[in-house]
Amino acid sequence: MNLSDFVRPFSVETYRQRRLRLLKDLGKLEPNFVCLFWSGSEVVRNHDSHFLFRANSDFLYLTGFSEPDVLMILKSKDGKISTSIGVRPRDLSTNRGSEIWEGERLGVQRAPKALGFDEAFDIHEADKLLKDALHKSSCVFWNLGLYPDWDQKIVQCISASTLSNRGIPVVRALRDSRPVLHEMRKIKSKDEIEVMRRSGNIASQGHIRAMSTTRPGQFEYQVAAEVEREFKRLGAQHNAYNSIVAAGGNACTLHYHANNDRLKKGDLILIDAGAELDGYASDITRTYPVSGKFSKDQKAVYQVVLDAQLAAIAASKAGAKFMKPHEEAGRAISEGLKHLGIIKNKSPQMIYKKGLWRKYMPHGTSHWLGLDVHDMGRYKSIDSPQEDVPLVEGSVITVEPGLYFHPQDKSVPQKYRGIGIRIEDDVHITRSGPDVLTANCPKSVEAVESACGPKL
Ligand code: GLY
Ligand code: MN
Ligand code: MN
Repeated sequence: MNLSDFVRPFSVETYRQRRLRLLKDLGKLEPNFVCLFWSGSEVVRNHDSHFLFRANSDFLYLTGFSEPDVLMILKSKDGKISTSIGVRPRDLSTNRGSEIWEGERLGVQRAPKALGFDEAFDIHEADKLLKDALHKSSCVFWNLGLYPDWDQKIVQCISASTLSNRGIPVVRALRDSRPVLHEMRKIKSKDEIEVMRRSGNIASQGHIRAMSTTRPGQFEYQVAAEVEREFKRLGAQHNAYNSIVAAGGNACTLHYHANNDRLKKGDLILIDAGAELDGYASDITRTYPVSGKFSKDQKAVYQVVLDAQLAAIAASKAGAKFMKPHEEAGRAISEGLKHLGIIKNKSPQMIYKKGLWRKYMPHGTSHWLGLDVHDMGRYKSIDSPQEDVPLVEGSVITVEPGLYFHPQDKSVPQKYRGIGIRIEDDVHITRSGPDVLTANCPKSVEAVESACGPKL
């Protein structure tokens, strides 16, 4: 591999600048600190098979490097910064777990240049380096709770530093870097937006492929295979999350994952599936008729959800409060529930005000999107936790209202029972209005029907 192949999708310099910015911002909180990040390790699936490794998103954001068992040690002392990274050593022996079995590693010698760090070390020496670093710093930024083994090691190091300093604490603060780092991650650069647009385009093509190949009698997992085949064919390395492929009443189970039911003629099918391209997620939901054509009642419900989604997208503007799209979706859903005759004795305004619509749309409308499908970043203001943060230029949210009429819900007219519909797009927030990254995925009744296979 070339050195540049170890870092993607941006340049080494981009990641170095991100680290410098993080350290500069943390330096406003603490004058003298060590900041640590772990890439994660492979996790055993069974015996000697592992789940596919995917590096921790904070680590990925700061390095673009995807190997397991990597520790970043970033130090700042009175504004002077030094960076080191611990990686697995090269190993060309024929032992299990070596490069002969598992593929090329970057290794210690090449790491500083390839990753833009001052120095590198063998990860097996991490304990000693950690001890040295923590015995000289008054503050450690380490995000507890993700990697218990490291939590324990770091706390032990902190405690040992006090003992060896005649009982006087050396490390006086253990702090969390995420409030700073995740606000950085929330605002995407132009280059990140372009990767996310490509991820959204790939996901759109996956949904189009599913629409065109779906037939009654197939199993849900066969439809999932069509979506995911297209993701990979078009260059996405992974799914962004486990695909939800829910036919008929299964769509009323919000996190349906079984994907093992058979598709029936006349049912709808809901697919919530996104691609991960170079670490960046897309997140699309579409609902379409298994037989290629909506029934009158399905179409009526679909149009309510679509109107709600369009209203919520229109409200997705820089400066608006985070919950504004949800409020707009709720108003439109309330109108729709009245129009469909599902709630009869209340005005749409009362349905909205009393929150009666939430029974049929029990989830939010939006979440941040980025390296994680539910991306990091605050939803509420730190200073006044009741207040929503605003949507800011460069952030990306999903807009995903839905309506779910459970098959057993006797409060709903029979003709609507078992209909579950969600429509989800990814929206880049700009000053000039919403920029829909998944606009290539069919959405109107006509566009969806024409993307579907033969009308059966
Ligand atoms: N795919 C997960 C979600 O829509 O939130
Ligand atoms: Mn979503
Ligand atoms: Mn989704």
